[in-house]
Amino acid sequence: VSRVIPVDTFDLVIFGGTGDLARRKILPGLFRRYCAGQMPPEAQIIGAARSEMTDDEYRAFVREAVDEFGSTPHEPGQFDAFLGRVGYQRVDAKGSDGWEDLGARLRDDAVRAFYFSVGPALFGDLAERLRTFGLATQDTRIVVEKPFGHDLQSARALNRELAEHFNEGQIYRIDHYLGKETVQNLMAVRFGNMLFEPLWNAQHVDHIQITVAETVGVGGRGGYYDKSGAMRDMIQNHLMQLLCLIAMEPPARFEPDSVRDEKLKVIRALDPVEPHHVVRGQYAADENQPGYRAHVEDPRSTTESFVALKAHISNWRWAGTPFYLRTGKMLRARTSEIAVVFKDAPHSIFGAEAGRHRNMLAIRLQPNEGMTLDVTIKEPGPGGMRLVDVPLDMSFADALGPDGADMPDAYERLIMDVIRGNQTLFMRGDEVEAAWAWTDPIIESWARRGDVPKPYDPGGSGPDDALMLMHRDGRRWRDIK
Ligand code: BG6
Repeated sequence: VSRVIPVDTFDLVIFGGTGDLARRKILPGLFRRYCAGQMPPEAQIIGAARSEMTDDEYRAFVREAVDEFGSTPHEPGQFDAFLGRVGYQRVDAKGSDGWEDLGARLRDDAVRAFYFSVGPALFGDLAERLRTFGLATQDTRIVVEKPFGHDLQSARALNRELAEHFNEGQIYRIDHYLGKETVQNLMAVRFGNMLFEPLWNAQHVDHIQITVAETVGVGGRGGYYDKSGAMRDMIQNHLMQLLCLIAMEPPARFEPDSVRDEKLKVIRALDPVEPHHVVRGQYAADENQPGYRAHVEDPRSTTESFVALKAHISNWRWAGTPFYLRTGKMLRARTSEIAVVFKDAPHSIFGAEAGRHRNMLAIRLQPNEGMTLDVTIKEPGPGGMRLVDVPLDMSFADALGPDGADMPDAYERLIMDVIRGNQTLFMRGDEVEAAWAWTDPIIESWARRGDVPKPYDPGGSGPDDALMLMHRDGRRWRDIK
């Protein structure tokens, strides 16, 4: 049964239409939405970039991108029909070439969206030209990619620049983690069940762990990455968004500002992080592969490819419950999960020999999306009252059948949300600024102290200091596996 919500017809212009993100995510995603019946047959996709290209050449580019990065089963002729909706327009982001021609391709009765799949340095130029050449209507949406600035100051400057030409309701700041099916599931689990929410507070939760581990290194992205590091690339956006969704108060409604107001309150309630509560790492070489520094220009780079930290949220719900966050490249497995570890029962009626047991709810974002709830039971057999923790395990694919496995990619969903005009899963300007305001001092303190990240072995779980961060508190990370 198809459960797609058809969207109104649209003209989507992708600035940076020949770039990597367009090739890997945006274009294949649009094709899959087309095949799923969500993209209206008369919708139009226009790639725009600096180079000279005909419509046909761009269609060939799109065909290759879709073939390489995620085609989907489709009827004969469907691919050609999709490509028939694709065109190309050369524009000069810093000049006036091409803008009128681009305008001539747009229809008055279609939803109009411009995807800025370019570096933030061009955001202002593009926004201004959309206005001056009359391409932006009242209802036009713009989509901007991360990185949204480099720090608080640059993020503020970007917000101001965009605000000169568009109002907040027209600006869709992407954090693709919010488009992940299981990330939205966090809200469903919390606010759709009676079981968890009453326990979701410092009184019952010992601590929360958020892990986003990757097996890949920085690869060909060294140029960008070395200026960012894991703090800017992952913590400031993806992990903080996860933290917000796990920690926020119930929004009154599942509506954009209702949800975003609650997330903002979480960020604003975060305490500054103590320097000794942050561990940075950088992956070293091993016999099979070069280390981080071989992937970037500066052979003495002190940019981190791993961060672990302990955060505290000073509000009524969470005071006293630590949130441990960790993310890194070149780790043992690609695992993203959030684990809510509950407190011990106040008193063990089974005596000390029964050992220590705790409930734990782990929400797996990827791979094998699902949930595990550790429950304590009696160990079967005649050995007396011995206790053991067993997992109540669910994979969404098993529980929901093919529909559970066939989840749209984050970008597909988010692009369709743009067309539908739903900002719930996009970051508001004040949210992004608040997130930078929290991460900036951490990054500044590294520079001030001349901090050098700890080397760690590829294929492991990061530097030992990260393990110590929890051991010192009498806790341990869940295994990355
Ligand atoms: C991106 C980061 O935002 O997210 C990358 O820039 C990272 O460095 C990627 O690899 C991870 O996304 P995903 O969807 O593969 O978990």
